Amino acid sequence: MKLATRAIRTGHQRTGEGEHCEPIFATSSFVFASAAEAAARFSGAQPGNIYSRFTNPTVRAFEQRLAALEGGEACVATASGMAAILATCMGLLQAGDRILAARSLFGSTTMLFDKYLARFGIATDYVPLSDLDAWAAAIRPETKLLFAETPSNPLTELVAIRPLSEIAHAHGCLLAIDNCFCTPALQRPLEQGADLVIHSATKYLDGQGRCVGGAVVGPAKQVGEDVFGVVRTAGPSLSPFNAWLFLKGLETLHLRMHAHAASALTLARWLEAHPAVARVYYPGLPDHPQHHLIADGASAGAQAQQRTGGGIIAFEVTAPQPNWARKAAWSVIDATQLLSITANLGDTKTTITHPATTTHGRLSAEARAEVGIGEGLIRLAVGLEDVADIQDDLARGLDALEDRR
Ligand SMILES: Cc1ncc(COP(=O)(O)O)c(C=O)c1O
Repeated sequence: MKLATRAIRTGHQRTGEGEHCEPIFATSSFVFASAAEAAARFSGAQPGNIYSRFTNPTVRAFEQRLAALEGGEACVATASGMAAILATCMGLLQAGDRILAARSLFGSTTMLFDKYLARFGIATDYVPLSDLDAWAAAIRPETKLLFAETPSNPLTELVAIRPLSEIAHAHGCLLAIDNCFCTPALQRPLEQGADLVIHSATKYLDGQGRCVGGAVVGPAKQVGEDVFGVVRTAGPSLSPFNAWLFLKGLETLHLRMHAHAASALTLARWLEAHPAVARVYYPGLPDHPQHHLIADGASAGAQAQQRTGGGIIAFEVTAPQPNWARKAAWSVIDATQLLSITANLGDTKTTITHPATTTHGRLSAEARAEVGIGEGLIRLAVGLEDVADIQDDLARGLDALEDRR
């Protein structure tokens, strides 16, 4: 089956009631026909549901659908994207192991690695995301897991997944890719050689900003046994209600991702030409440093790994006076009347945020400078409103900024 069909059809095993839409199994536990059957389920001799911290049919339907979309053997759903990252590290690493990660990562991921996993003897080294030589040079004998987001948040930098996977495997490491910006509709990291795919399902998989959840996709052993073991035991399990919302979200994923990307490209081109904008970061633009990795790109060749530039744009405003970068960025954000000032992304509603004081506000000024997140930077997660209305809403603040220069 083609991807759009899998997104709609995979995972639902119709019950005897003949329901057309996937049911929500709102039950904490499952009933056995006899004490012997209970014993067989608990011992693992007989497969089947026991308790919804372990498995739940609605959650399983979501897991099967996402595994089919990413092309993975197994999928484990979790209560959030961060729980997916934590369960992956707990399931696959032990004290003394090291993670090698891209410097530009979602803030809570960096915090999880540096503040919490470090306490349990798992240290993390960081490298610039797109610099493959730096990745290769930084691998130590203790390094077991390479971890990257591509594109990065918020600067939309890409790393070439195929060569990065070859570096990982040459050193006996696993490569995990956080695919939350692209989703399997635009990029399938496992086909590019990655071992694990991480999702914050909160974003585009839901697509309508309704609930929080996550998932890990990968091999039957590492994900289906090792990561599943952590989730089942420690309990960051996905609720069946949220799994149902994600199932519904996946059904329109394809259409939405292409619509998000089409509007983002239109806006990126318009922003690039606006005199109050100093720089636009969007992989769909030909001057983006990794544009060759985008299949729609004019220069796209065999290396293409991402079907379009996606729905996220970052841009820097020009400050009317030195040291006014934050004021200028905030004035553009505050002038909007339609867009939502919120840090979430992957919603039908366009969201706008100032990364230096929100998503990346907990990083030190030096750490932000190192990854290139300046005070004049704005991140736009382009929604599905009419693109002309999004443009008008941004123009109000940008035109005012230009008039003040
Ligand atoms: C790239 C990326 N990974 C992981 C997460 C964490 O996901 P969640 O908020 O669902 O825990 C986020 C959340 O914003 C994210 O942007």
